[in-house]
Amino acid sequence: MREPPQDCRLLVCVGPRCDAQGRGSALLARLRALLEDAAGVSCQSRDCLRLCTGEPVVRLEPSGDVLANPDPEELMRLARRL
Ligand code: FES
Repeated sequence: MREPPQDCRLLVCVGPRCDAQGRGSALLARLRALLEDAAGVSCQSRDCLRLCTGEPVVRLEPSGDVLANPDPEELMRLARRL
């Protein structure tokens, strides 16, 4: 029997390095706007994912994939496929 698809969660870092110029917060706001009509995908903020690159970092769960400075629309397409 096939397992039902798991919901995807996007963890968006708004920690001191990712959000130094407000880019983490801007990414979080854009993703939340895109999520308004996206079933099966949720979004939460995190203070630091311990993966600091100087770019806004997002971790996808349950896959654990990490992306730095992702394009919000591309990220949503990826999340819907997981
Ligand atoms: S401040 Fe974002 S990963 Fe550390």
